[in-house]
Amino acid sequence: MTINMEIVNRYIHDFVELLHEPKQPPHDGKLKVGVDLGTANIVISVLTEENIPVAGSLYPASVVRDGLVVDYVGAVDIVKKLKTGLEKRLGITLTEAAGAVPPGTVGGNRKAIQNVLESAFFEVTNIVDEPTAAASVLGIKQGVVVDVGGGTTGISILKDGEVIYTADEPTGGTHMTLVLSGYYHISFEEAEQLKTDREREEEVFSLIRPVVEKMASIVEKHIQGYGVDNIYLVGGASSFTKFADVFREQIGIETVRPDHPLFITPLGIAMNC
Ligand SMILES: Nc1ncnc2c1ncn2[C@@H]1O[C@H](COP(=O)(O)OP(=O)(O)OP(=O)(O)O)[C@@H](O)[C@H]1O
Ligand SMILES: [Mg+2]
Repeated sequence: MTINMEIVNRYIHDFVELLHEPKQPPHDGKLKVGVDLGTANIVISVLTEENIPVAGSLYPASVVRDGLVVDYVGAVDIVKKLKTGLEKRLGITLTEAAGAVPPGTVGGNRKAIQNVLESAFFEVTNIVDEPTAAASVLGIKQGVVVDVGGGTTGISILKDGEVIYTADEPTGGTHMTLVLSGYYHISFEEAEQLKTDREREEEVFSLIRPVVEKMASIVEKHIQGYGVDNIYLVGGASSFTKFADVFREQIGIETVRPDHPLFITPLGIAMNC
């Protein structure tokens, strides 16, 4: 199955433009809200009922680790602040929201995510699986969604719209930053800055390429025997221009990565509100 990447990218770009300047909200009709509590970032996205982007907000945070809420009070505080900020910008109150959990989450953590949202005065309509959220934006029913986040890489195989296999591997953008920090003898924070400096992308990518190759070999092992035809990369750490090429060349399966991959899951969470 092929997806129309042009349409997906236009959608993502529309949303990213709204991060600083929201659209006037529609006077009637409800708004759909998605809250993504990630290891590296907390993102809130706001859509119309027809899934048209209205507003969004991002806050770098370390209140969640590997999908688990480790700083409950901090998480609630940030979600509250983001919510209030968006409400001020939009001039309305946001009432309902959906949250998400990493693939394969069982038991208590689903409840913890729900509690964070409720403590921030949201009525929770849904707690969706992250890969299902991403698939909603991409418009896919088959293939593997690889979510390269801060601390973890989620691997989720979809068939007929259902997630049939999931794995969460402890590798992600943090590992890339550590490689840069070690190579240049600079602090983690400086390395993080360097990593996202587009002017030095070529030099950076040559150093973190082995991390990406390792990720590709991990993904290749997981998807063996599932007849996967397409790999879809999402998550902030897959932002590098050549990231998909490494996967395609190494695994030999068509691999695509939308623009601004960090926002795919947050947008999909709102779609499932
Ligand atoms: N432009 C960029 N280039 C390279 N890396 C980036 C870029 N933007 C973000 N990242 C990296 O992406 C990671 C965060 O991605 P994302 O927000 O998808 O993760 P998360 O959802 O918070 O974490 P997780 O999914 O592990 O819980 C960080 O390591 C960050 O440094
Ligand atoms: Mg994530």
